[in-house]
Formats: sequence, structure tokens, C-alpha cells
Amino acid sequence: MQTSSDHSTPTPMAIPNNIAVIILAAGAGKRMKSSLPKVLQKVGGMPMLGRVIATAQQLNPASTTVVYGYQGEEVRAAFPDAALTWALQTEQLGTGHAVLQALPHCAADGIALILYGDIPLITEPTIRNLADKAAATNALVWLTQEVLNPAGLGRIMRDAAGNLASIKNERDASLAEKEVKEIWTGLLACPIQKLAEWLPKLQKGNAEKEYYLTDIMAFAAAENTAQFSCNPKQAWECAGVNDQIERARAERQYQITCANALMMNHGVTLADPARIELRGNLICAANVAIDINCIFEGTVELDNNVTVGANCVLKDCKIAAGTQVLPFTMIDGALVGKNCKIGPYARLRPNTNLAQDVHIGNFVELKAASVAAGSKANHLSYLGDTVIGSGVNIGAGTITCNYDGANKHQTIIEDNVFVGSDVQLVAPVRVAAGATIAAGTTIWRDVDGASLNLNPKTQEQKANWQRPVKTPK
Ligand code: UD1
Ligand code: CA
Repeated sequence: MQTSSDHSTPTPMAIPNNIAVIILAAGAGKRMKSSLPKVLQKVGGMPMLGRVIATAQQLNPASTTVVYGYQGEEVRAAFPDAALTWALQTEQLGTGHAVLQALPHCAADGIALILYGDIPLITEPTIRNLADKAAATNALVWLTQEVLNPAGLGRIMRDAAGNLASIKNERDASLAEKEVKEIWTGLLACPIQKLAEWLPKLQKGNAEKEYYLTDIMAFAAAENTAQFSCNPKQAWECAGVNDQIERARAERQYQITCANALMMNHGVTLADPARIELRGNLICAANVAIDINCIFEGTVELDNNVTVGANCVLKDCKIAAGTQVLPFTMIDGALVGKNCKIGPYARLRPNTNLAQDVHIGNFVELKAASVAAGSKANHLSYLGDTVIGSGVNIGAGTITCNYDGANKHQTIIEDNVFVGSDVQLVAPVRVAAGATIAAGTTIWRDVDGASLNLNPKTQEQKANWQRPVKTPK
């Protein structure tokens, strides 16, 4: 047996691949007061459990087991593809009982890394350090932390020499014990063999009548099994989420961390780091500037010198160098070329592909539309299922009538076409290169190049016209 001491830091070793990640996610989460299971509540646009799984996966563990129970099928169904093992805990009898359900899925000679589905902000360096230390020493390594307000958390009890002795949970702690500010974060790395030995011995002799995982600290101390503590890399990582206020707090922490990284690592100019929302992966090249209240979802790539105006929503899109996205623009599933001007109030829908120097102005909607270099649609248009050549002008109020009530049809507008204002293009239709379409024309037949197209209309004038007058009641 080794002597227990948490002051002798073991030499870090390359992490072996016998880590068995166990994620506890079976609890009811009643305080959330929501029909959505707690671990599926989102932080940074991703379910909390998904965030923990993704972070754990960065360690390349031998296995990842999720202990699920309450609203379990819904939780399980949310992660259909991931390489996960699911361990059902039919009754929530406590954290120790929860870990016991996972053991049959873990290699007997591995190191368990215990994470919580409701501690979403935990980072890879922190859990790597935890797993590393346990693997290097074959000891228990508890992730602990000094906090200002330890209420509700398990307090760390140390002996006179400062060695880990036991954990007192809130409802079992005396007034004096409650004064202790060092708490257990909930995360632990421990040889599976030890868990297999100790977990079946847990008793429910505590205030909550549950099998507490925390009791194994006292077991280890009694047996003189080595155990250490270590701290998270950043104080905010271990914040647990039990209610909507804590979820919102975790969300703010996540957002400011991402905003700071964009500024520090990529030199992004954020008008206000407190007013950007990242719900996916934002990749920025050099000299990107983002004004306030922008939301980024899915994977968004902004190339050099891209500017994004206030109140834009950008989802799954790629914006090439020098393009200006002006305020109140929504982009979803689009590729935008260099030096374009999009917005204000533009909407690019999925499968839109713009070449360079394209201008899309206010209240212009594009769907499955490709637009070649230098073309413009500056005002009030709908362009759907459309291929537009280069140097085309689309006048204000022009729409493609792409839907006949049953099927969608394509409009092709070739290079250098001039489309006047308020034109309807009834698809399927092709407008050949260089054609001109007069204002107010409905096009329902193919148009030849170099032609002027208009619908004969007359303008009448009635002189001295008297408008009706409102009759008094
Ligand atoms: C637990 C710890 C406490 C620690 C705190 C950190 C115990 C007894 N207490 O308290 O020392 O400071 O976490 O956040 O371990 N769960 C299950 N099945 C169960 C019970 C819980 O899967 O039967 C899961 C929950 O979904 C949750 C996690 O375990 O993800 C923690 O459970 P919770 O009831 O929130 O424990 P705490 O009271 O916070
Ligand atoms: Ca909790």
C-alpha cells in the first residue's frame, strides 16, 4: 500500500488508453422545472451532455459509458451515432449506485474517469490532467476546489496532516463542517478495481438515504490507499447546472470564454464581447470585425477582412474575404464570395452560392440561387431555384415564380441581362444573355438575347378626376 498524501505531485506520464469514461446523467433535474431532460438543456447551442461527451472524446478513452435513467429514452435518443455505451439506472439511488451500473461496461484493469452530464463547461486539459495523475499513480484523484460559497456541495475533510479523509455532503455536515470551503467538484479518476471493490459496500446511512460515491474517500483513507486532490485549470469549469439560473450563468461563462478566445487568438474585433452568441463553431481569419448582437450557429467561416453588422444571424455558411454583411441579415447554408455586400435586411437561404462582388440588398431573399460575379439585386426580391449569370441587374420588386402549387421550377438568367423593376419570371424559364426586360413585365416564355421584352399595357388618363369623399355618419 502506498501512503496517502496529496502534496507529492506525481510525475505526469503520457496518458494510457485504458481510460473508461463514466458520465452520470440519470438524475431527475427537478429544479430545472422543464419537460426537457436536464442534460439535454443547451449551453452554447449544444445539449450539456453532448458537450461533456465531446470533451471526454478528446482523450480518446477506451470506452465512454453514460449512466441514464430519468427520461432516459429521450436522453439516449439524442445521441444516436456517438460511440457510446449506455448503462440504465432504473432507480436513482445515488451517485455511488449510478457508477456501479457503469462498471460492467468498463475494462477491469482500467482507470475510471467520472464526469457529470450537468457539469457542461469542464475542459479537456482539466480532465486529461485528472486521468493522467490517476494513471501515473494508480491512485484516486479527486478534482476539488476552494469556493466562496460551498452551500449544497460535498465538503472535503482532511486529517491533521492535511491528507484527504472524507467528504461531508450538505445534509450530513455539522455547522463547523459546513464552514469548510474546499469542495468536491463531482469529478474523480480512480482505478476500476477499487470501485469494483468498494461500491458494493456502500451503505445508505446518510441524510438522503442514498448510496453516496463520496463515501469511498473514507474507505481509501481507512485502507491507506493513495489518494490525491487536484484542481480544475479554471475556477468556472466545474459549475454544476441544476436550475435555469445556473444554466444561464453557465451560458454566459461559455460565451465570454469563446469571445475572449476570438479576440486573443484570432484578433477579432468584437464591438462588445458580452453581446455575441456562439452556438456552434465560428472560424475567423485575420481582421474580422463583428458588431453587437450577432448569433452564429453551426459552422461559420469568415475570411480576411469580413465585417458583420449588428443583429445578424449566420448559420452554416462561408463568407469570403472582404465581404460586408450589413445589419439585420440572415444567412443559412450559403457560400458568399469575395467583396460582396449583403444586406441590410437580406436573407440568404440554403444552397445559395454567390460569386465575388455580388450585391444583395434590403428585403431580398435568395433560395437555391447561384449568382455569378458582379450581379446585383438591391431591393425587395425573391430569387428561388435560380441561376443568375454575371453582370446582371435585378430590379426592385422582381420575383421568380418558382412554384406552380405542386412543383418547383428553375429560372435561368444569363450574363448581362437587365431585369427592370417589378418583374415576374414564371419558371421554368430562360432569359438569354444581354436581354432587357422592361419594368412591370411578366415573363412566361423563354427570352432571346439582345431583345427588349415587355407586356403591352396602356396608360390612360382621366382629366379632373374627383376622388370619393367620406360620407359623414
Ligand atoms: C454531488 C456530490 C457532492 C458534490 C456535487 C458536485 C454525492 C453524494 N454528492 O452532489 O459531494 O459536491 O455532486 O456537483 O456524490 N446522478 C445519477 N444517479 C443518481 C444520482 C445522481 O446519475 O442516482 C447524477 C446526476 O444526474 C448528476 C450527478 O449524478 O449528474 C450528481 O447528482 P446530484 O444529485 O446533482 O448530486 P449533488 O447533490 O449535486
Ligand atoms: Ca448537482
